[in-house]
Amino acid sequence: MLKQTEARQILHNSEVLFTADQVQAALRKLASSICAELSDQHPLVLSVMGGAVVFTGQLLPLLDFPLDFDYVHVSRYGNNKQGGEMRWKVAPHENVRGRVVLVVDDILDEGETLNAIRNRVMELGAVKFCSAIFADKKNGLNKPIRADFVGLEVPDRFVFGYGMDVHGAWRNLPAIYAMKEE
Ligand code: IMP
Ligand code: MG
Repeated sequence: MLKQTEARQILHNSEVLFTADQVQAALRKLASSICAELSDQHPLVLSVMGGAVVFTGQLLPLLDFPLDFDYVHVSRYGNNKQGGEMRWKVAPHENVRGRVVLVVDDILDEGETLNAIRNRVMELGAVKFCSAIFADKKNGLNKPIRADFVGLEVPDRFVFGYGMDVHGAWRNLPAIYAMKEE
């Protein structure tokens, strides 16, 4: 955990990539695409804790059709910025069977997290898997999975805010930030 002085220092050395208004505009656009595609599918929405908490909390009230809600909790990064081993804290379970599942997550980086969730969800008998990812990182990688609904494209930098953390801090920021490059 960061000390509050360290967290404030990180914010001080960072820049805004997308303002809160830009984030909200992207959210509304993404929500209307989801409404257009999934209105009659009665999806089970699975939010990926903890990064998707802000995105999910703002997305759900913009969806104007019947849905069910549940969450999974997986972390790959721990407190490290490097991609690491996948740890399931709450794995997908039987309630996905026979459902159209919409997974909601904050960011698609290497795509390993979303791919692992898709594999579990399909093994458990979901009829269809789709995903809404707020930020797609343009890292030039050949990702194992594409998101069906994307809010914003972010550059290949470590970003935070709007649910995404830097060493555990600043998930609560309404805009998207990145550390200034030296
Ligand atoms: P992936 O498996 O590499 O796609 O990693 C996706 C997960 O890593 C996301 O759910 C985020 O929690 C985390 N992550 C990846 N890149 C960033 C970043 O730039 N900032 C904060 N979290 C990130
Ligand atoms: Mg995450």
